[in-house]
Amino acid sequence: MSDKDRILVNIAEDLGVSRDLLWPRLEIVGDVAVLRKPVYLPPSDELLGVYRKIAVEVIKRVKNVKSVWLAYTPVSDVSKTRKYLFLAGRNVSETVYREHGCSFRLDIRKVYFSPRLNYEHGWFARFVKPGERILNMFAGVGFFSIIPACRKDVKSYAIDINPHAYKYLLDNIRLNKVEGKVYAFHGDAAIITSVLVSEKKKFQHVIMPYPEKAISYLPVAVEALDKCGYLHIYLHRRMERGTTPDVVGGSIRKKLLRLGFKDVEIVRTRLVRTVGPRYGQYVVTVKLC
Ligand SMILES: C[S@@+](CC[C@H](N)C(=O)[O-])C[C@H]1O[C@@H](n2cnc3c(N)ncnc32)[C@H](O)[C@@H]1O
Repeated sequence: MSDKDRILVNIAEDLGVSRDLLWPRLEIVGDVAVLRKPVYLPPSDELLGVYRKIAVEVIKRVKNVKSVWLAYTPVSDVSKTRKYLFLAGRNVSETVYREHGCSFRLDIRKVYFSPRLNYEHGWFARFVKPGERILNMFAGVGFFSIIPACRKDVKSYAIDINPHAYKYLLDNIRLNKVEGKVYAFHGDAAIITSVLVSEKKKFQHVIMPYPEKAISYLPVAVEALDKCGYLHIYLHRRMERGTTPDVVGGSIRKKLLRLGFKDVEIVRTRLVRTVGPRYGQYVVTVKLC
């Protein structure tokens, strides 16, 4: 349990709120805090009253938090956003969130965000080398695209279908002064990738941080890879006995062999986080030559 989650649990205990009413995680993005409710509880007035009391305490106890929201739905299909109710503090859902020395303006109600991808963003920025070109097919507000460009001399192409994510991508490119290194595109990743390929653009890294769809975009992603390049695939898998990161990596290897690749090297596999009672989000990095 993180320090922030511990604060939330302490608040609930101090207010006499039953653990069953609480999803025991406190997400902080910039000066905005997000509470979630257990999925099986409908958002009644009574429940909201409880969450409002907790939210007031969060503002008192967590430094820099100015606004607290309740996420009351799972993430939607395409834009991967949730629905929110305002709980306490300033009624503002836009914030600036800092990660790995870069700043990201975003509105929690309009775009996807997850502080839990922090490690992945840092790993990727360390892994790419100066001079390389990156294609991010599902960029959101730009973490995987902008952080490497803040640190290294890379060219980063970032695509997102959500118009709000695209607008924040443009804002964040300016905010981090990486114009001329990061290029934003609005639209479907398959279509824009095909256009880039038809313009003879090739990439040393293609990253696909959209676990629900990455596999179905594999055939177009491999077209964009340079002669030797890395694919970074995020995917969900049911966590059954025997589902290890290596097994997940092996299943990706088989898919790529079926697509006609002969030289498939699994560079890294990792369980990024659990995303449901029995589901895990995994990442597999593959080198294809
Ligand atoms: C999980 S989020 C990306 C997370 C982001 N890379 C990060 O590190 O926070 C997936 C993103 O894919 C975008 N998306 C969904 N379908 C898409 C498509 N067909 N083409 C391009 N982007 C798409 C969504 O709008 C969303 O921003």
